[in-house]
Amino acid sequence: MSRYAHLTGWGMAVPDRVLTNHEIEQMVDTNDEWIIARTGIRERRIADKSDTTASLAAKAALRALQGTDVKAREIDLIIVATSSPEHIFPSTASLVQDRIGATEAGAFDLSAACTGFIFALNMAAQAIRSGSLNRALVIGSETLSRMVNWEDRGTAILFGDGAGAFLLEGRDWPGGVMSCVMRSDGSGGDLLSVPAGGSFMPTSLETLQKKLHLIQMDGREVFRFATRVMASATREVVELAGMSLEDVDLVIPHQANKRIIEAAARGLKLPLDRFALNIDRYGNTSTASIPIAFCEAFEQGRTRAGDRLVLVGFGAGLTWGALTLQLTEPERVVTPVERRRWWVFAVLARLRSVLRRVGRRLESWIFRARAKPE
Ligand code: UT7
Repeated sequence: MSRYAHLTGWGMAVPDRVLTNHEIEQMVDTNDEWIIARTGIRERRIADKSDTTASLAAKAALRALQGTDVKAREIDLIIVATSSPEHIFPSTASLVQDRIGATEAGAFDLSAACTGFIFALNMAAQAIRSGSLNRALVIGSETLSRMVNWEDRGTAILFGDGAGAFLLEGRDWPGGVMSCVMRSDGSGGDLLSVPAGGSFMPTSLETLQKKLHLIQMDGREVFRFATRVMASATREVVELAGMSLEDVDLVIPHQANKRIIEAAARGLKLPLDRFALNIDRYGNTSTASIPIAFCEAFEQGRTRAGDRLVLVGFGAGLTWGALTLQLTEPERVVTPVERRRWWVFAVLARLRSVLRRVGRRLESWIFRARAKPE
């Protein structure tokens, strides 16, 4: 029997702090008019000390579960696509697993820059379709503001923080993820990178002084690459799903620059109103931009059950990809009381985590005491 990976829950989380273009005018030589005209961005969200990539991811994940009757302990897999992980290791996904109490889940991060959410969604969908697992949380989460050089006007204006999460579940009837295209071209790796802090260039006083631990970008080249691949990947993925462009109800593009999305619309000969656009309020949130744009489009009634969507993105690597997705009817309406109980589960998950840590300390202490020679 064929299995299908349906989208059954989704959620987003953004920090409260809004950073406007006018505020960025105080930091670098730029102005509100230029930023709006060249990117479409008016403001973005910036995480304060209390938020990290893992905390935003966990909030988005809990909100994705809130709309369903799935419990965190029933999740089989968590993938966090991120370009600003909490640490090099442990994975941000493992921290999310602990924070939401997904006790039975395997968890790992996926690094494919802004295309990461599409790649992760496809990996999770394929695992569900193969029958090897049944429920997966796919999360895109970023605190890129911590990796931006706030003295570089080419990047400081672009990026923002936030997270979005999708819950995929296996079903025996058609729907959900239909086709995917995944591509990369490492020869363009130098166009958008964080050069230092890895094995090639470990962090040193010199790398810190030269700000090589922060985002470096050749904006013009990335722009040229993006306008080329957005339309071609969309065409390819639609054909793979056996659809035509006319069948697409809404395109959810990576929100990197409004002009890139307009160019894609022109290239595909689709009206701009067939594209979800919220870059004006969030800037480029990298892996989080597609799920955030989807959550808002659904909230605004721009998409509903039965719709066929294209998710399309590009990013550092270079990477690019697109995925088609059919939305299906929710199988059950969740009551307001049930929605609220997820915060109870979040608190219980934290408590469970603390108890496990204490238990591990005690165990280790007892083990050492016993191992001591008489
Ligand atoms: O997720 C993927 C992440 N990255 C991207 O998607 C980035 C894609 N690239 C872009 O979005 C655009 O290339 C930028 C928004 C980064 C830059 O816009 P642009 O239209 O490509 O500008 P440009 O680099 O070609 O520069 C045009 C002019 C230059 O001045 P001159 O040399 O013509 O006198 C720049 O110095 O605009 C100047 N400029 C600025 N002026 C005011 C560049 N950045 C700024 C700025 N404010 N922030």
